[in-house]
Amino acid sequence: MLNLAVLVSGGGTNLQAIMDAIDSGEITNANIKVVISNNEGAYALERARQYGTEALLLSPKSFPSRDVFNESLLLALKEREIDLVVLAGYLVVVPPCVIREYENRIINIHPSLIPSFCGKGCYGLHVHEKALAKGVKVSGATVHFVDEGTDTGPIIMQKPVMVEQTDTPETLQKRIMEQAEWIILPKTIDLIANGKVHVNDRVVTIDE
Ligand code: GRF
Repeated sequence: MLNLAVLVSGGGTNLQAIMDAIDSGEITNANIKVVISNNEGAYALERARQYGTEALLLSPKSFPSRDVFNESLLLALKEREIDLVVLAGYLVVVPPCVIREYENRIINIHPSLIPSFCGKGCYGLHVHEKALAKGVKVSGATVHFVDEGTDTGPIIMQKPVMVEQTDTPETLQKRIMEQAEWIILPKTIDLIANGKVHVNDRVVTIDE
């Protein structure tokens, strides 16, 4: 059984998709051990409580220094024997000490087809604003392993979503969540939990 930590900063619809997929049996061999947020007001924490899993608030602001926060985050993961860290709308930079400890065991969902519309400053609605400004006809979502760069880790799974001429950043965001994010994030977790995802020289292969 894979112990998951899901790290969130906002509404937590991706967290909800993971919880629903565990309940429906779409994800097997995994359970959510803890949901961690930097944001006290994150509705994702409420979703965790309602689901009956630990909701842990760890805000960099309430620690004397960033180093102490970083060590506390690492300790929280280690104490709970976490196997896979899932970043589901987590707006805090994951510290190098955590990335080193959990190499190829941290995944992130990004709402575009990487390498488009990603990197520093590309989060939330900005991603979709940039996609619409560029006039792309297809966008989508990507699940990738997390390395020390921003959105640069090995790509695990992607799903395209058509852009419509009348789209606003909000409508595109919603369609990408519904048609891509909430599907590929649970799917990836299930594949990892069942030992089907392999990384070789930064290229991911998935067993059939
Ligand atoms: C999603 O669009 C995800 O791709 C991005 O942050 C957003 C989180 O949304 N990384 P939610 O909190 O899961 O609703």
